Amino acid sequence: MLNILVTGASKGIGRKIAEELKTCGNLFVTGRNKDALSSIGAKDYCICDIANTPEILGDFIVKNNINVLVNNAGEYIYGAIDKMTIEEIQKIHKTNLIAPAYLISRAVPYMKEQKFGRIINIGSISGVMGEANASLYSSSKAGLMGLTKALALELAEFNITVNTINPGWVETNLGNDSIEQSEFTKEEILDCIPQKRFVTPDEIAKLAKYLISDDARGITGQGINLCAGLSVGI
Ligand SMILES: NC(=O)c1ccc[n+]([C@@H]2O[C@H](COP(=O)([O-])OP(=O)(O)OC[C@H]3O[C@@H](n4cnc5c(N)ncnc54)[C@H](OP(=O)(O)O)[C@@H]3O)[C@@H](O)[C@H]2O)c1
Repeated sequence: MLNILVTGASKGIGRKIAEELKTCGNLFVTGRNKDALSSIGAKDYCICDIANTPEILGDFIVKNNINVLVNNAGEYIYGAIDKMTIEEIQKIHKTNLIAPAYLISRAVPYMKEQKFGRIINIGSISGVMGEANASLYSSSKAGLMGLTKALALELAEFNITVNTINPGWVETNLGNDSIEQSEFTKEEILDCIPQKRFVTPDEIAKLAKYLISDDARGITGQGINLCAGLSVGI
């Protein structure tokens, strides 16, 4: 039986992934917004701020024998590197990289025991290509790729796959905020995307569903760029 946990499931991409995976097994969700989480109709939910108290979610993972972990929760920060404080540098890495690594560390013992596991991280094309004035976001997402490749090797013999989906621009709260904060208009950004469109949360959710399926058991250690063509040529 699949025991699936989706982080950052209260809205945006994580919400769509949770809705898509609901029929695949026992669904567990987490985030900070209780009302939003309780409306998903999951088997259970956990209120947790993963930047400050990830241990709460770590214990929830162990308690529910999670064997499919989707590390989706994330935050964005815009600004020149010389304007960033130590608190901002730490917070974004805690949320986007340290918490996912910690949550994986709590899920892996059960996955190893069962000789089955699926780990999906939601990275970003910014971590693949780099994004000016989003260096901390880019470095935290690039870190997920290092984690993905190393863990894919480390966990391969246990039938545990580890992959990262790297979306391009997606119209969510985070996506719209990042466009607003940037020096470009929405039209200018669209013009830079080869397919001239934003990626939808639904496309990411369907890829996540495929990656947890038996058909995808040979796919591990990969960064899959779902970005409407943004990364072509790198
Ligand atoms: N939108 C894009 O253009 C884009 C592009 C590439 C990658 N991504 C990545 O996709 C993922 C989802 O982003 P989104 O666009 O769906 O953003 P979103 O709509 O802003 O949703 C972010 C989710 O993460 C949760 N979250 C953030 N910080 C948290 C914390 N400290 N503790 C617990 N939960 C936290 C939020 O929970 P609450 O609302 O409950 O607080 C929310 O559920 C992120 O990792 C993001 O970096 C997004």
